[in-house]
Amino acid sequence: MIEFQSVSKQYSSDAYALRDVTLNIDKGELVYLAGPSGAGKSTLMKMIAAVERPSSGKLLVNGQDLGRIRKAGIPFLRRNLGLIFQHQRLLNDRSILANVMLPLLVTGAPRGQAEQRARAALDKVGLEDRAKAMPLELSGGEQQRVAVARAIVNRPQIILADEPTANLDRVAADKVLDALRAFNAVGVTCVISTHDEEVLDRGARVIRLEQGALVGGEA
Ligand SMILES: Nc1ncnc2c1ncn2[C@@H]1O[C@H](COP(=O)(O)OP(=O)(O)O)[C@@H](O)[C@H]1O
Ligand SMILES: [Mg+2]
Repeated sequence: MIEFQSVSKQYSSDAYALRDVTLNIDKGELVYLAGPSGAGKSTLMKMIAAVERPSSGKLLVNGQDLGRIRKAGIPFLRRNLGLIFQHQRLLNDRSILANVMLPLLVTGAPRGQAEQRARAALDKVGLEDRAKAMPLELSGGEQQRVAVARAIVNRPQIILADEPTANLDRVAADKVLDALRAFNAVGVTCVISTHDEEVLDRGARVIRLEQGALVGGEA
């Protein structure tokens, strides 16, 4: 479903953010992307979402070559992606229900249907009873779970979560990860990055990056 073939990324000519990365992620997998700050985790995620393009090598998502994708094709690609990115905040002047409805309304869903689906998404992350609350009335962990609900409300095939547990305590982090695991359990492919080794599930597949390169024999 996601295939990196010798992908490198250079933001400037003298430094590699990713170097010769080759890996496959299959449909329905849950994969952790681990590595210290600056290792290239966000860059790798941004390439899957076509926010950044490979400098060399080939990247296929759902069979589509993202090095060659036209601008007009990017919205169609993103419709299959649920993105939980670090600097993508909730809108603080709208209720959490309104925040989760937004991705549906922008793709033209009728209000009633959007509200029903947004409430169902909030229910899945354990926040249906807070639907009318404003984001800043929630804890950091609850806000992250709203971000998860917003990411999955369009029923994407792939969830990309870039450090979704950053700045959360263990209990709150586990709740966010439980929500992501629940979506994986019903078949959604999940890629979750972290610089915190403690969040990694035992037995889970872990892709490790250091200075832009895969380490530990992942392929
Ligand atoms: N937009 C950018 N322009 C220039 N350099 C960047 C940009 N984004 C990331 N980098 C550099 O690429 C490397 C990898 O960064 P990043 O993918 O953000 O790592 P991580 O998410 O693992 O912390 C770092 O050296 C970073 O400074
Ligand atoms: Mg990052």
